Amino acid sequence: MDIIKTIGLTKRYNGFNAVKDFNITIKESEIFSLLGPNGAGKTTTIRMLTTLTVPTKGTAIINGYDIVKNPDKVRESIGVMFQETVLDEELTAMDNMNFYADLYNMPKSEKKKRIHELLKRLRLENRRKDRVETFSGGMKRKLELAMAMLHKPKVLFLDEPSLGLDPQSRRVIWNYILKLKKQGVTIFLTTHYMEEADMLSDKVAIINKGRVIVVGSPEQLKKSIRHYRPTLEDVFLHFVGELD
Ligand SMILES: Nc1ncnc2c1ncn2[C@@H]1O[C@H](COP(=O)(O)OP(=O)(O)O)[C@@H](O)[C@H]1O
Ligand SMILES: [Mg+2]
Repeated sequence: MDIIKTIGLTKRYNGFNAVKDFNITIKESEIFSLLGPNGAGKTTTIRMLTTLTVPTKGTAIINGYDIVKNPDKVRESIGVMFQETVLDEELTAMDNMNFYADLYNMPKSEKKKRIHELLKRLRLENRRKDRVETFSGGMKRKLELAMAMLHKPKVLFLDEPSLGLDPQSRRVIWNYILKLKKQGVTIFLTTHYMEEADMLSDKVAIINKGRVIVVGSPEQLKKSIRHYRPTLEDVFLHFVGELD
């Protein structure tokens, strides 16, 4: 089953196409990575799919719901970790989690257990009572990931999840992503790290100037270029160009 299907998804800002005619299908429990240089349209795509901005044209179906006609149902189906932080730095990790849980109307009994489980899973358990302003970048990212998964969404969107992270935090996040996949969660991520995309993804799309240039599994894409022992970075540079 295609859990995500985009149909001519387009976003225009003042006559400029930030995303143009984006067509992609993603199957349940796949990890999909959207790759592209700065300004390619990755965040705009995520903002449309997560119902934060309305497409100029086209639409997408997520978990059976149309993002334009049925945004509330889409929101119930998804979790999001944004590129920009959403944490209240003056609050503790627990209080940030509690705030989100209340936003989702989680019952008290379930809330406590779920928060505990996620903080443990993301190795934040012993810092749960500390204010977020004392956290490292990696810890903040892990906390945001925990918050995105609170209501057990079927689809998780991650906009540059490991930007600027230390290797340990990145590894914890990667392992958690792979575990979620095993549990049947579908993951849509954007990244600059080719190694990350190669290791995690079932499917990759390269986007440049708002348009999808190529889609396929990392293996398929590597086979498609003439190169000695190609890496995904070679694929990226082949399609996007070395200087842009
Ligand atoms: N709210 C907006 N108003 C006008 N232009 C925007 C807006 N959001 C994004 N853009 C433009 O759309 C293009 C794609 O941006 P974005 O989706 O953030 O790229 P990426 O995430 O791949 O770096 C960029 O040229 C950006 O300047
Ligand atoms: Mg972005």
